[in-house]
Amino acid sequence: MPPFRDYAGPSDLRAMQGLTQRVWSERSPFHIGNLAWERFEHVGRDSEWPTRLWLEGDTVRAWGWIQDGGHLYFQIDPARADLFDDVFAWFEATATGDLTTVALDNDPDGVARLAGRGYRALGEEHPFALRMSRTLDDLPPVVLPGGFHALSMAQVGDSERRALAHRNAWSRIAGREADPPGRSRVTGESYRQVMAAWPYRPDLDWVIEAPDGRLAANACLWLDEVHGAGLFEPVGTDADFRRLGLGQAVCLAALHALRAVGGRIALVGPRGDDGYPVPRALYAGVGFTAYARDIVHARKRLA
Ligand SMILES: CC(C)(COP(=O)(O)OP(=O)(O)OC[C@H]1O[C@@H](n2cnc3c(N)ncnc32)[C@H](O)[C@@H]1OP(=O)(O)O)[C@@H](O)C(=O)NCCC(=O)NCCS
Repeated sequence: MPPFRDYAGPSDLRAMQGLTQRVWSERSPFHIGNLAWERFEHVGRDSEWPTRLWLEGDTVRAWGWIQDGGHLYFQIDPARADLFDDVFAWFEATATGDLTTVALDNDPDGVARLAGRGYRALGEEHPFALRMSRTLDDLPPVVLPGGFHALSMAQVGDSERRALAHRNAWSRIAGREADPPGRSRVTGESYRQVMAAWPYRPDLDWVIEAPDGRLAANACLWLDEVHGAGLFEPVGTDADFRRLGLGQAVCLAALHALRAVGGRIALVGPRGDDGYPVPRALYAGVGFTAYARDIVHARKRLA
């Protein structure tokens, strides 16, 4: 059994991102920005998420992160593919619910490894994510209704305002604005945690300010400088300002900023199933096309 350690804090997230960046390609299920956003968007959730790192010296060769009791995020260095069984033995012994995980459909070896361990692919009726990308060569201009302005967090600065913008966007999902609002757990404190995480950049985190001063739309891009790849996570428009083109405008403002700092390609991972089709339509309208989809795999937990 190679050495491993259980997650003990933000420096371990940074070490996990080291593997994610080292092995990144468009076939990768993770980008360094996914890890930063998902780990830090809320405060105080580490105890819900068993997370383990497998190491060779100081180098992370694999990591596993269990969410919702039984959903595994994992990444394994192809040079140490043998760690697959260690990661899954830990996952299956630690999970408390039925076991699920994901392989991309552009990774037949990954799909075959899961099948070999008894995981079965779920059909398209189950929620799954689409992987979309666009290059930055032909960006259309940002078009805004009169009185609205695009600003980056380098200009806005205020994490409380930015967190409120996020909450107002994520309290009502797209197309169901009349439903009673939910409540996002993003706060000023959690957003400061996000802003402190590598590789957050305030010049790539964009908002649209409405004439009344509210931040009506928001989009944060995370840049992996080694690969020139920027990931959107998250994007939202306040439910009071939907269908005005602000979602498109804030994405385009962020994409222009990404290109200006040397980005080459942008990525986003909306739902791909028909249960939540609006975000993928938004990104298609901004020039993104799908290059892969997640295949969710499931296995019953052994008693
Ligand atoms: C998805 C979301 C960001 C769209 O924001 P928006 O400002 O209303 O989007 P836009 O006005 O720029 O619309 C862009 C395109 O998206 C599609 N779209 C947006 N809302 C739609 C709806 N309710 N029904 C169908 N298509 C819709 C359309 O193709 C639209 O172009 P069109 O108006 O020219 O037809 C917003 O609904 C939201 O914040 N939802 C909750 C958070 C979320 O799901 N974020 C994305 C996660 S990946």
